[in-house]
Amino acid sequence: MESSSPLSRSKHRLRIPQPPSLLNRCFVFLSIMGGVYVFYLNHTVLQGSYMHHRAPGPQDISRHKRSLSVNDSFYMQATPPSGDTCYLRDKLRSLWMPDLHSVFSDPVSGQVVFVGLKLLRHSWHGDEFRCEFPDGQVRRSHILRDGRSSGYFPQYVVVLTCPLPEQYRWRTRFQMNLRRVTTNTSYTNVTVCTSGVSPEKQYKLAICTMVKNADSFIPEWLSFHKYVGVEHAFIYDNEHHENSNLTRTLAAYIKDGFVTIIPWAHSVSPYKTYLEVQIAHENDCIWRHKHDVDWMIKIDVDEYIQPMDVNRTHFITDYLNESMFDHVGAVRVQNWFFGRPLNIAPRGESVIERNRWRSKVPTLQNTGHDKNILRPINVHYFKIHNVKLGADVISADPHTELRLVHYRTDNQRARRFSLPKFSVRDESMVELRNAALSNARNVSAAADIAIETYTHGNNYASNANY
Ligand SMILES: *[C@@H]1O[C@H](CO)[C@@H](O)[C@H](O)[C@H]1NC(C)=O
Ligand SMILES: *[C@@H]1O[C@H](CO)[C@@H](O)[C@H](O)[C@H]1NC(C)=O
Ligand SMILES: *[C@@H]1O[C@H](CO)[C@@H](O)[C@H](O)[C@H]1NC(C)=O
Ligand SMILES: *[C@@H]1O[C@H](CO)[C@@H](O)[C@H](O)[C@H]1NC(C)=O
Ligand SMILES: *[C@@H]1O[C@H](CO)[C@@H](O)[C@H](O)[C@H]1NC(C)=O
Ligand SMILES: *[C@@H]1O[C@H](CO)[C@@H](O)[C@H](O)[C@H]1NC(C)=O
Ligand SMILES: *[C@@H]1O[C@H](CO)[C@@H](O)[C@H](O)[C@H]1NC(C)=O
Repeated sequence: MESSSPLSRSKHRLRIPQPPSLLNRCFVFLSIMGGVYVFYLNHTVLQGSYMHHRAPGPQDISRHKRSLSVNDSFYMQATPPSGDTCYLRDKLRSLWMPDLHSVFSDPVSGQVVFVGLKLLRHSWHGDEFRCEFPDGQVRRSHILRDGRSSGYFPQYVVVLTCPLPEQYRWRTRFQMNLRRVTTNTSYTNVTVCTSGVSPEKQYKLAICTMVKNADSFIPEWLSFHKYVGVEHAFIYDNEHHENSNLTRTLAAYIKDGFVTIIPWAHSVSPYKTYLEVQIAHENDCIWRHKHDVDWMIKIDVDEYIQPMDVNRTHFITDYLNESMFDHVGAVRVQNWFFGRPLNIAPRGESVIERNRWRSKVPTLQNTGHDKNILRPINVHYFKIHNVKLGADVISADPHTELRLVHYRTDNQRARRFSLPKFSVRDESMVELRNAALSNARNVSAAADIAIETYTHGNNYASNANY
């Protein structure tokens, strides 16, 4: 939409070359200043709000392409190719349509799910969308109205669903159109892949994150969480496929079936921040795993969930095992910064070993630092720190249950971040890490023996140890 008016404007301006006169120069100067002013208004003052304020009329629509035809080049597979799942290489964009970050079918609930972008003044939830299936069947879409976060900055992302006709329910791949009724615009021939739910692969506890060039952080983070009970990691790779080394860095974990890497280098709208892509990835992850993951940890790779009760097992699931937890949307985990005093030089490669100090108290709740262990089946829409639409959230006690250990000091993004004083020496994470490492060595030692027997000494599992 943003391309329409500048285009038509430049067409007018480029009409007839005339000899430059003073009047003309003045006109050009004023035009440029006007353009700058409009740009300033659109991009700085009214972020995103220049989207049409009135419903577009038929003449508006006819001036533009009515549909984006979506072919195979728009898709990528996750690694390892997990059955018949696929992901959009970049978000889909088309005039008078919401941007779409993902499309997939959920055979268990019998729906096709679209995760898309909502701009400030867009009100897609008031619109009707139609899913058109190849045999001519049409289903009306459903968007849940967001009553809770519709304040000045409404949600970034919409989740739109259509019921799946029975004959498409168990198909792993088919094509369909998504049509917006008021404008009669559409995405056509969109490939819908299955979410990949299978009865054999059920996880009690999984972890989901998005990274960009953080390869060195990840192996320690994975081994730690594997040790405390995480059964699978879904890592959305925000680096472009051709530049990313993540598949190589995590080859052993992938081979092991512990990690799935999802290509997610989607572009960000000029008037948005990376949060657009972040929130889209979060809701994609939640919706694809509603039926095969009981609990989904949603944290970054400089954050760790630490089980605190020495009298329980070290498994996080041990804390989530009561039936009252079946009905919550998430367990909220309070942030606790770890780092080192200014006069202490960092020693070692490991983030956990370098940062053996913490602040005296955890960060207050609801100050934008909490993270969540989600129950995807009870969440409709999630945004970074909060379940926006979904069941109630309860909090874990950071002293006796679970806490979020946050190593912000070593994060390159920390430069302008105000950190607390690290005054308390705390070795508990180092102890857990050492136990995790020793466990990983035991596991990989066992795996090495098995592999050696199998491949006659070709020991490719060795890079499982950092
Ligand atoms: C698929 O669509 C893209 C973008 O519209 C286009 O450049 C490409 O040629 C198309 N490929 C095929 C095989 O039609
Ligand atoms: C909407 O567009 C399609 C082609 O994309 C056309 O076949 C159909 O008649 C249009 N519907 C209306 C109501 O204009
Ligand atoms: C969509 O796919 C159908 C069936 O493969 C094909 O006949 C049709 O031409 C495609 N439409 C567009 C706009 O590419
Ligand atoms: C990937 O590895 C290559 C070779 O080691 C390196 O040049 C490149 O910078 C790495 N890419 C990223 C995104 O770190
Ligand atoms: C662990 O058990 C011991 C002995 O029963 C008890 O004294 C201690 O308070 C318990 N710790 C916690 C955190 O519950
Ligand atoms: C959770 O509870 C079930 C029974 O309700 C039990 O079988 C299982 O071992 C428990 N898991 C953990 C990690 O405590
Ligand atoms: C690893 O194996 C050693 C020796 O078999 C054992 O003592 C140790 O407890 C194991 N570590 C873990 C974390 O299981």
